[in-house]
Amino acid sequence: MNGYPAPRTCPLRPPEPYARWREEAPVTPIVLPGGRPAWLVTRYDDVRRLLRDPTLSSDSTRPGYPGFGSAVEVPPMSRSLIGLDGPEHERLRRLLGVEFAVPAVARMQPELERIVERAVDNLLAGPAPADLVERFALPVASRTICHVIGLGYESHEVFEHNTHVLTDGTRSAAQKAAAGAAITGLVADLVRDRRRRARDDLASRLVASGELTEEEVVDNLVLLVGAGHDTSANMLALSTWTLLHDPVARDGFLAGPDLQRNAVEELLRFHSIIQLGLARVATADLEVGGQLIRAGEGVVLSLQAANADPRRFTAPDTLVLTRADARRHLAFGFGPHQCLGHYLARSTLRTALAGLLRRIPGLRLADDAQAPHIKDSMDFHGLHRLPVHW
Ligand code: HEM
Repeated sequence: MNGYPAPRTCPLRPPEPYARWREEAPVTPIVLPGGRPAWLVTRYDDVRRLLRDPTLSSDSTRPGYPGFGSAVEVPPMSRSLIGLDGPEHERLRRLLGVEFAVPAVARMQPELERIVERAVDNLLAGPAPADLVERFALPVASRTICHVIGLGYESHEVFEHNTHVLTDGTRSAAQKAAAGAAITGLVADLVRDRRRRARDDLASRLVASGELTEEEVVDNLVLLVGAGHDTSANMLALSTWTLLHDPVARDGFLAGPDLQRNAVEELLRFHSIIQLGLARVATADLEVGGQLIRAGEGVVLSLQAANADPRRFTAPDTLVLTRADARRHLAFGFGPHQCLGHYLARSTLRTALAGLLRRIPGLRLADDAQAPHIKDSMDFHGLHRLPVHW
């Protein structure tokens, strides 16, 4: 049995054993951190197919679910859409989907641009060198999700700190439960406030819809607070590091909006930040790549391995900003649970990277950022710090 997750040998590429397993045993037996066994799926075609297979459940309360002790399993997320299957999931997805569809994200674009401009102003107003994670990536991502939901940005330290605890593989279950409770407290206060006086925000619309229970409103907003800022901030930091490290890539990125769109897809593919993969449990026997998976067994779908599968992407370990099929990546998952915020995440990345590089042409990595400060033991790949100069 193979220990999972395997450590990275190169800070910016998936752990080396995944490539070997993908060739030799694409459905590999693994042991999760708590000692529980599961199957790891590493080939692009298998991962994509299984993400649409209703035989696999996302319900973390089912016996056999391959838990990482991650945010998704910490109560009270039980009524949030990421852990529901079938019609229950479809109902919530329909209600929330409209808030993150293309027209809604297009309406948010002017505010997104204001958020980025202000974040660059603040960065330039402070001393250099500066930590780009703390001074740019987190503020942009957190202000954006606060704007969408209706949460005041003054609470950012509380939800950023507690999300960090929830996604840190080295923290105890008790620490994670306390962190989950702190974010839930913030959101529950917001929901109570919006019951008294509605505003033009997602929290008010969910409360007013009358279609969700109190618990559903709170649990789904809690999910959005966490999923909505940490992911984008990590992608922003990793992408900035990548572009600053390679002057050709940096100049290429500024070549125009079409290239920027494609470059963002390639950065999402290349970094594939969900480093533990997606967890599912089989509800009936199924066969994948010649391997029988029995009902009740846990399955982990590695997005990192799938997005680096040479059967799907030519020279997958090379970053090619003009890669024609970059958009076929699975960094946002696929199928019914595909990331609800993917249009918003794409817009945020494009707007923030373009704004940052355009406004600060002299931006460069500070000496101690030449080797990236990577997040190894966290659920999401990213950088703890990114010291920059200008
Ligand atoms: C689900 C990745 C940003 C909200 C997912 C899933 C992935 C993912 C892989 C699928 C989970 C599964 O199948 O079990 C990412 C990445 C992001 C990002 C790489 C940034 C680069 C965001 C943002 C939001 C968001 C900005 C909110 C505004 C959600 C929600 C789900 C989800 C609510 C659950 C969807 C469902 O279960 O139907 N994300 N995400 N994500 N994401 Fe994201």
